[in-house]
Amino acid sequence: MFDQLNALPADPLLGLISAFQNDPSPTKVDLGVGVYRDETGHTPIMSAIKKAAKIHLDTESSKTYISPVGVPGFVSGVKKLVLSEQSAALADNRVAGLQTPGGCGALRIGAELLMRMKDDVTVWLSDPTWANHIPLLKSAGLKLASYPYFDKKTGAIDFEAMDTSLAKLGPSDVVLLHGCCHNPTGADLSYEQWQRVTERAVNQGFIPFVDIAYQGLGDGLNEDVKGVRLLSENVEEMLIATSCSKSFGLYRERTGSLLIQTKTAVQSNAALTHAQDAARASYSMSPAYGGYLVDLILNTPALRSEWEQEINTMARRVKSLRSGLLEKIQQRDIDKDFSFITSQKGMFTYLGITKEQVHRLRDEYAIYMADSSRINVAGLNTHCLDYVADALESVL
Ligand code: LMR
Repeated sequence: MFDQLNALPADPLLGLISAFQNDPSPTKVDLGVGVYRDETGHTPIMSAIKKAAKIHLDTESSKTYISPVGVPGFVSGVKKLVLSEQSAALADNRVAGLQTPGGCGALRIGAELLMRMKDDVTVWLSDPTWANHIPLLKSAGLKLASYPYFDKKTGAIDFEAMDTSLAKLGPSDVVLLHGCCHNPTGADLSYEQWQRVTERAVNQGFIPFVDIAYQGLGDGLNEDVKGVRLLSENVEEMLIATSCSKSFGLYRERTGSLLIQTKTAVQSNAALTHAQDAARASYSMSPAYGGYLVDLILNTPALRSEWEQEINTMARRVKSLRSGLLEKIQQRDIDKDFSFITSQKGMFTYLGITKEQVHRLRDEYAIYMADSSRINVAGLNTHCLDYVADALESVL
Protein backbone atom coordinates (compact mmCIF):
# COMPACT_ATOMS: atom_id res chain seq x y z
CA MET A 1 0.00 0.00 0.00
CA PHE A 2 2.69 2.48 0.95
CA ASP A 3 4.40 2.16 -2.41
CA GLN A 4 1.80 4.71 -3.51
CA LEU A 5 3.52 7.43 -1.47
CA ASN A 6 6.35 9.49 -2.88
CA ALA A 7 8.51 11.46 -0.48
CA LEU A 8 7.46 15.07 0.06
CA PRO A 9 9.90 17.98 -0.01
CA ALA A 10 11.07 19.25 3.39
CA ASP A 11 8.88 21.79 5.21
CA PRO A 12 9.96 25.25 3.92
CA LEU A 13 10.93 26.48 7.41
CA LEU A 14 11.86 23.32 9.30
CA GLY A 15 13.88 22.08 6.29
CA LEU A 16 16.26 25.01 6.82
CA ILE A 17 17.32 23.58 10.20
CA SER A 18 18.94 20.47 8.74
CA ALA A 19 20.27 22.31 5.68
CA PHE A 20 22.05 24.71 8.05
CA GLN A 21 23.32 21.93 10.32
CA ASN A 22 24.80 20.09 7.35
CA ASP A 23 26.61 23.16 6.00
CA PRO A 24 30.35 22.91 6.85
CA SER A 25 31.05 26.65 6.37
CA PRO A 26 32.73 28.19 9.45
CA THR A 27 31.08 31.54 8.74
CA LYS A 28 27.51 30.23 8.30
CA VAL A 29 24.66 32.32 9.69
CA ASP A 30 21.25 30.89 10.57
CA LEU A 31 18.47 33.42 10.00
CA GLY A 32 15.93 30.70 9.16
CA VAL A 33 13.55 29.15 11.61
CA GLY A 34 12.04 31.51 14.19
CA VAL A 35 13.72 30.63 17.46
CA TYR A 36 15.31 33.11 19.82
CA ARG A 37 19.10 32.93 19.95
CA ASP A 38 21.67 34.57 22.21
CA GLU A 39 24.92 36.22 21.11
CA THR A 40 26.58 32.80 20.74
CA GLY A 41 23.79 31.47 18.52
CA HIS A 42 22.42 29.27 21.29
CA THR A 43 18.72 29.00 22.15
CA PRO A 44 18.98 29.07 25.94
CA ILE A 45 16.57 27.64 28.50
CA MET A 46 15.27 30.67 30.39
CA SER A 47 16.52 30.80 33.95
CA ALA A 48 12.95 31.11 35.35
CA ILE A 49 12.08 27.92 33.44
CA LYS A 50 15.09 26.08 34.92
CA LYS A 51 14.02 27.08 38.41
CA ALA A 52 10.40 26.11 37.78
CA ALA A 53 11.56 22.75 36.39
CA LYS A 54 13.50 22.02 39.60
CA ILE A 55 10.49 22.88 41.75
CA HIS A 56 8.26 20.76 39.54
CA LEU A 57 10.62 17.79 39.69
CA ASP A 58 10.61 17.93 43.49
CA THR A 59 6.88 18.36 43.86
CA GLU A 60 5.27 16.28 41.10
CA SER A 61 4.08 13.07 42.70
CA SER A 62 2.22 11.32 39.87
CA LYS A 63 2.13 11.00 36.12
CA THR A 64 -1.51 10.09 35.95
CA TYR A 65 -3.72 11.94 33.45
CA ILE A 66 -4.51 15.56 34.15
CA SER A 67 -7.85 17.20 33.36
CA PRO A 68 -8.49 17.22 29.58
CA VAL A 69 -8.69 21.02 29.84
CA GLY A 70 -5.04 21.18 30.95
CA VAL A 71 -3.21 22.46 34.02
CA PRO A 72 -5.75 24.78 35.69
CA GLY A 73 -3.20 27.38 36.89
CA PHE A 74 -1.68 27.48 33.41
CA VAL A 75 -4.98 28.10 31.65
CA SER A 76 -6.11 30.79 34.12
CA GLY A 77 -2.63 32.37 34.16
CA VAL A 78 -2.45 32.61 30.36
CA LYS A 79 -5.94 34.10 30.16
CA LYS A 80 -4.84 36.91 32.48
CA LEU A 81 -1.47 37.32 30.79
CA VAL A 82 -3.17 37.92 27.45
CA LEU A 83 -6.42 39.61 28.44
CA SER A 84 -5.32 41.24 31.76
CA GLU A 85 -6.52 40.86 35.34
CA GLN A 86 -9.15 43.53 34.62
CA SER A 87 -10.74 41.78 31.64
CA ALA A 88 -14.52 42.08 31.72
CA ALA A 89 -14.92 38.95 29.59
CA LEU A 90 -12.89 36.99 32.15
CA ALA A 91 -14.89 38.44 35.04
CA ASP A 92 -18.09 37.34 33.30
CA ASN A 93 -16.69 33.81 32.74
CA ARG A 94 -17.12 34.26 29.01
CA VAL A 95 -13.67 32.98 28.09
CA ALA A 96 -13.07 29.23 28.04
CA GLY A 97 -9.50 27.96 27.84
CA LEU A 98 -8.00 24.67 26.68
CA GLN A 99 -4.32 23.80 27.01
CA THR A 100 -3.05 22.61 23.65
CA PRO A 101 0.10 21.10 22.14
CA GLY A 102 1.70 24.44 21.25
CA GLY A 103 0.16 27.30 19.31
CA CYS A 104 -0.28 24.92 16.36
CA GLY A 105 -2.55 22.71 18.48
CA ALA A 106 -4.56 25.77 19.45
CA LEU A 107 -4.95 26.88 15.84
CA ARG A 108 -5.97 23.40 14.77
CA ILE A 109 -8.54 22.90 17.56
CA GLY A 110 -9.85 26.42 16.84
CA ALA A 111 -10.21 25.41 13.19
CA GLU A 112 -12.08 22.23 14.13
CA LEU A 113 -14.39 24.24 16.36
CA LEU A 114 -15.15 26.56 13.44
CA MET A 115 -15.87 23.52 11.26
CA ARG A 116 -18.65 22.57 13.71
CA MET A 117 -20.56 25.82 13.05
CA LYS A 118 -23.58 25.51 10.82
CA ASP A 119 -22.53 28.54 8.77
CA ASP A 120 -20.19 28.07 5.87
CA VAL A 121 -17.20 29.73 7.52
CA THR A 122 -14.35 31.37 5.57
CA VAL A 123 -11.12 32.18 7.38
CA TRP A 124 -9.28 35.23 6.06
CA LEU A 125 -5.50 35.27 6.38
CA SER A 126 -3.13 38.20 5.99
CA ASP A 127 -1.14 38.23 2.76
CA PRO A 128 1.46 37.05 3.60
CA THR A 129 1.04 34.99 6.71
CA TRP A 130 3.02 32.35 8.60
CA ALA A 131 3.50 29.51 6.10
CA ASN A 132 2.03 26.88 8.42
CA HIS A 133 -1.26 28.74 8.95
CA ILE A 134 -2.48 27.49 5.60
CA PRO A 135 -2.02 23.71 6.02
CA LEU A 136 -3.05 23.88 9.70
CA LEU A 137 -6.41 25.47 8.97
CA LYS A 138 -7.01 23.95 5.57
CA SER A 139 -6.47 20.37 6.69
CA ALA A 140 -9.32 20.85 9.18
CA GLY A 141 -11.51 21.46 6.11
CA LEU A 142 -11.90 25.22 6.37
CA LYS A 143 -12.32 27.49 3.40
CA LEU A 144 -9.46 30.01 3.30
CA ALA A 145 -9.06 33.41 1.64
CA SER A 146 -6.57 36.21 2.07
CA TYR A 147 -6.79 39.93 2.79
CA PRO A 148 -4.11 42.40 1.61
CA TYR A 149 -1.70 43.26 4.41
CA PHE A 150 1.88 43.99 3.51
CA ASP A 151 3.21 46.42 0.95
CA LYS A 152 6.52 45.04 -0.26
CA LYS A 153 7.50 48.42 -1.72
CA THR A 154 7.32 50.27 1.61
CA GLY A 155 7.97 47.41 4.03
CA ALA A 156 4.85 48.52 5.93
CA ILE A 157 1.20 47.56 6.15
CA ASP A 158 -1.10 48.62 3.34
CA PHE A 159 -3.84 49.39 5.81
CA GLU A 160 -6.19 51.03 3.36
CA ALA A 161 -6.28 47.88 1.24
CA MET A 162 -6.71 45.70 4.33
CA ASP A 163 -9.53 47.86 5.66
CA THR A 164 -11.32 47.89 2.31
CA SER A 165 -11.20 44.12 2.28
CA LEU A 166 -12.44 43.76 5.89
CA ALA A 167 -15.30 46.14 5.09
CA LYS A 168 -16.80 43.46 2.83
CA LEU A 169 -16.87 40.69 5.46
CA GLY A 170 -19.78 39.49 7.56
CA PRO A 171 -20.82 37.11 10.35
CA SER A 172 -19.75 33.93 8.59
CA ASP A 173 -16.22 35.25 8.16
CA VAL A 174 -13.32 34.75 10.54
CA VAL A 175 -10.29 37.04 10.35
CA LEU A 176 -6.99 35.64 11.50
CA LEU A 177 -4.86 38.41 13.01
CA HIS A 178 -1.35 38.26 14.40
CA GLY A 179 -1.51 39.65 17.95
CA CYS A 180 1.97 41.16 17.67
CA CYS A 181 5.32 40.67 15.93
CA HIS A 182 3.70 39.65 12.64
CA ASN A 183 5.22 36.49 11.20
CA PRO A 184 6.73 36.75 8.57
CA THR A 185 6.82 40.53 8.01
CA GLY A 186 7.39 42.13 11.44
CA ALA A 187 4.87 44.81 10.37
CA ASP A 188 2.34 45.27 13.18
CA LEU A 189 -0.94 47.15 13.29
CA SER A 190 -0.73 50.46 15.14
CA TYR A 191 -3.20 51.02 17.99
CA GLU A 192 -5.31 53.24 15.70
CA GLN A 193 -5.40 50.45 13.14
CA TRP A 194 -6.46 47.94 15.81
CA GLN A 195 -9.27 50.38 16.68
CA ARG A 196 -10.41 50.40 13.07
CA VAL A 197 -10.28 46.59 12.83
CA THR A 198 -12.26 46.38 16.07
CA GLU A 199 -14.92 48.75 14.71
CA ARG A 200 -15.16 46.64 11.58
CA ALA A 201 -15.53 43.43 13.62
CA VAL A 202 -18.23 44.99 15.80
CA ASN A 203 -20.18 46.54 12.92
CA GLN A 204 -19.95 43.67 10.48
CA GLY A 205 -19.93 40.78 12.90
CA PHE A 206 -16.90 38.87 11.63
CA ILE A 207 -15.05 36.82 14.25
CA PRO A 208 -11.45 37.72 15.08
CA PHE A 209 -9.11 34.76 15.53
CA VAL A 210 -5.90 36.11 17.06
CA ASP A 211 -2.68 34.14 16.90
CA ILE A 212 -0.37 35.46 19.61
CA ALA A 213 2.96 33.65 19.67
CA TYR A 214 5.45 36.43 20.48
CA GLN A 215 3.99 38.31 23.46
CA GLY A 216 6.79 40.24 25.16
CA LEU A 217 9.21 40.10 22.23
CA GLY A 218 7.98 43.30 20.59
CA ASP A 219 7.34 46.37 22.74
CA GLY A 220 6.65 44.65 26.08
CA LEU A 221 4.29 42.13 27.68
CA ASN A 222 1.37 44.55 28.00
CA GLU A 223 2.09 46.72 24.96
CA ASP A 224 2.13 43.67 22.69
CA VAL A 225 -1.42 42.65 23.57
CA LYS A 226 -3.09 46.07 23.44
CA GLY A 227 -4.86 45.17 20.21
CA VAL A 228 -6.04 41.78 21.48
CA ARG A 229 -7.38 43.37 24.65
CA LEU A 230 -9.15 46.06 22.67
CA LEU A 231 -10.87 43.41 20.58
CA SER A 232 -11.85 41.38 23.63
CA GLU A 233 -13.35 44.46 25.29
CA ASN A 234 -15.47 45.26 22.25
CA VAL A 235 -16.45 42.13 20.37
CA GLU A 236 -18.67 39.47 21.85
CA GLU A 237 -17.00 36.47 20.28
CA MET A 238 -13.42 35.71 19.36
CA LEU A 239 -10.78 33.00 19.38
CA ILE A 240 -7.20 33.36 20.58
CA ALA A 241 -4.37 30.89 20.00
CA THR A 242 -1.46 31.39 22.39
CA SER A 243 1.98 29.82 22.33
CA CYS A 244 4.69 29.47 24.99
CA SER A 245 7.34 28.42 22.47
CA LYS A 246 8.96 31.82 22.10
CA SER A 247 7.81 33.81 25.13
CA PHE A 248 8.87 31.05 27.55
CA GLY A 249 11.40 29.32 25.28
CA LEU A 250 9.43 26.07 25.57
CA TYR A 251 9.53 25.16 21.87
CA ARG A 252 9.90 21.39 22.18
CA GLU A 253 7.52 21.11 25.13
CA ARG A 254 4.57 22.01 22.86
CA THR A 255 2.75 24.35 25.23
CA GLY A 256 -0.08 26.60 24.13
CA SER A 257 -3.74 27.32 24.67
CA LEU A 258 -6.93 28.05 22.81
CA LEU A 259 -9.06 30.78 24.40
CA ILE A 260 -12.69 30.97 23.29
CA GLN A 261 -14.60 34.15 24.08
CA THR A 262 -18.36 33.86 23.68
CA LYS A 263 -21.47 35.92 24.45
CA THR A 264 -22.35 34.09 27.67
CA ALA A 265 -20.77 31.82 30.27
CA VAL A 266 -23.12 29.01 29.18
CA GLN A 267 -21.91 29.31 25.58
CA SER A 268 -18.26 29.32 26.59
CA ASN A 269 -18.80 26.09 28.57
CA ALA A 270 -20.52 24.54 25.57
CA ALA A 271 -17.74 25.64 23.21
CA LEU A 272 -15.15 24.16 25.58
CA THR A 273 -16.85 20.75 25.48
CA HIS A 274 -16.55 20.85 21.68
CA ALA A 275 -12.90 21.90 21.80
CA GLN A 276 -12.20 19.05 24.25
CA ASP A 277 -14.11 16.65 22.05
CA ALA A 278 -12.05 17.68 19.01
CA ALA A 279 -8.85 17.22 21.01
CA ARG A 280 -9.99 13.82 22.32
CA ALA A 281 -10.63 12.64 18.77
CA SER A 282 -7.14 13.66 17.73
CA TYR A 283 -4.44 13.53 20.43
CA SER A 284 -6.69 12.99 23.46
CA MET A 285 -5.13 15.63 25.67
CA SER A 286 -2.24 18.05 25.72
CA PRO A 287 1.15 17.21 27.24
CA ALA A 288 1.15 18.67 30.76
CA TYR A 289 4.80 19.44 31.48
CA GLY A 290 5.17 22.90 29.90
CA GLY A 291 1.86 23.96 31.43
CA TYR A 292 3.12 23.13 34.92
CA LEU A 293 6.25 25.23 34.39
CA VAL A 294 4.35 28.23 33.04
CA ASP A 295 1.81 27.90 35.86
CA LEU A 296 4.68 28.09 38.38
CA ILE A 297 6.20 31.11 36.66
CA LEU A 298 3.00 33.09 36.24
CA ASN A 299 1.79 32.38 39.76
CA THR A 300 5.02 32.69 41.78
CA PRO A 301 5.98 36.39 42.12
CA ALA A 302 9.76 35.87 42.25
CA LEU A 303 9.78 33.58 39.21
CA ARG A 304 7.44 35.85 37.34
CA SER A 305 9.59 38.89 37.83
CA GLU A 306 12.68 36.94 36.77
CA TRP A 307 10.89 35.76 33.62
CA GLU A 308 9.69 39.28 32.85
CA GLN A 309 13.23 40.60 33.14
CA GLU A 310 14.52 37.84 30.87
CA ILE A 311 11.98 38.42 28.15
CA ASN A 312 12.60 42.18 28.29
CA THR A 313 16.32 41.52 27.82
CA MET A 314 15.57 39.27 24.84
CA ALA A 315 13.35 41.93 23.26
CA ARG A 316 16.03 44.60 23.80
CA ARG A 317 18.62 42.36 22.14
CA VAL A 318 16.45 41.88 19.06
CA LYS A 319 15.84 45.63 18.83
CA SER A 320 19.53 46.41 19.06
CA LEU A 321 20.30 43.85 16.33
CA ARG A 322 17.74 45.55 14.12
CA SER A 323 19.49 48.92 14.50
CA GLY A 324 22.90 47.26 14.19
CA LEU A 325 21.98 45.59 10.90
CA LEU A 326 20.43 48.75 9.48
CA GLU A 327 23.51 50.77 10.41
CA LYS A 328 25.82 48.29 8.67
CA ILE A 329 23.62 48.19 5.56
CA GLN A 330 23.56 51.99 5.42
CA GLN A 331 27.38 52.04 5.52
CA ARG A 332 27.45 50.02 2.30
CA ASP A 333 26.82 50.99 -1.28
CA ILE A 334 23.31 49.55 -1.37
CA ASP A 335 20.69 51.29 -3.45
CA LYS A 336 17.66 50.09 -1.49
CA ASP A 337 15.98 51.60 1.54
CA PHE A 338 16.07 49.14 4.44
CA SER A 339 14.92 51.60 7.10
CA PHE A 340 11.80 49.46 7.64
CA ILE A 341 14.05 47.06 9.61
CA THR A 342 13.90 49.29 12.67
CA SER A 343 10.20 50.12 12.43
CA GLN A 344 9.14 46.48 12.33
CA LYS A 345 8.66 44.51 15.53
CA GLY A 346 9.63 41.15 16.98
CA MET A 347 11.92 38.51 15.58
CA PHE A 348 11.15 38.79 11.87
CA THR A 349 11.91 41.13 9.00
CA TYR A 350 11.18 40.66 5.35
CA LEU A 351 14.28 41.82 3.49
CA GLY A 352 12.33 42.20 0.27
CA ILE A 353 14.99 40.60 -1.93
CA THR A 354 14.33 38.04 -4.65
CA LYS A 355 14.37 34.27 -4.23
CA GLU A 356 17.45 34.15 -6.48
CA GLN A 357 19.24 36.58 -4.17
CA VAL A 358 18.16 34.50 -1.14
CA HIS A 359 19.64 31.41 -2.80
CA ARG A 360 22.87 33.22 -3.64
CA LEU A 361 23.19 34.25 0.01
CA ARG A 362 22.74 30.59 0.97
CA ASP A 363 25.03 29.09 -1.70
CA GLU A 364 27.80 31.70 -1.74
CA TYR A 365 27.79 32.97 1.87
CA ALA A 366 26.07 30.20 3.89
CA ILE A 367 23.52 32.74 5.13
CA TYR A 368 20.23 30.88 5.61
CA MET A 369 16.80 32.48 5.46
CA ALA A 370 13.33 31.58 4.21
CA ASP A 371 12.82 31.80 0.43
CA SER A 372 10.46 34.71 1.03
CA SER A 373 13.54 36.62 2.35
CA ARG A 374 12.16 36.57 5.89
CA ILE A 375 15.01 36.70 8.37
CA ASN A 376 14.99 35.77 12.04
CA VAL A 377 16.69 38.86 13.45
CA ALA A 378 17.52 36.97 16.66
CA GLY A 379 19.79 34.71 14.59
CA LEU A 380 22.16 37.65 14.03
CA ASN A 381 24.92 38.60 16.46
CA THR A 382 27.24 41.57 16.73
CA HIS A 383 30.09 39.60 15.08
CA CYS A 384 28.25 38.65 11.89
CA LEU A 385 26.58 41.99 11.08
CA ASP A 386 29.42 43.16 8.81
CA TYR A 387 29.53 39.78 7.06
CA VAL A 388 25.77 39.80 6.43
CA ALA A 389 25.81 43.42 5.23
CA ASP A 390 28.75 42.67 2.88
CA ALA A 391 26.93 39.64 1.49
CA LEU A 392 23.78 41.66 0.94
CA GLU A 393 25.74 44.35 -0.86
CA SER A 394 27.25 41.74 -3.12
CA VAL A 395 23.97 40.02 -4.10
CA LEU A 396 22.12 43.31 -4.54
C1 LMR B 1 8.82 30.07 12.39
O1 LMR B 1 7.96 30.74 11.83
O2 LMR B 1 9.96 29.95 11.94
C2 LMR B 1 8.50 29.37 13.69
O3 LMR B 1 7.22 29.72 14.10
C3 LMR B 1 8.76 27.92 13.66
C4 LMR B 1 7.76 27.14 12.86
O4 LMR B 1 7.22 26.18 13.41
O5 LMR B 1 7.53 27.46 11.69
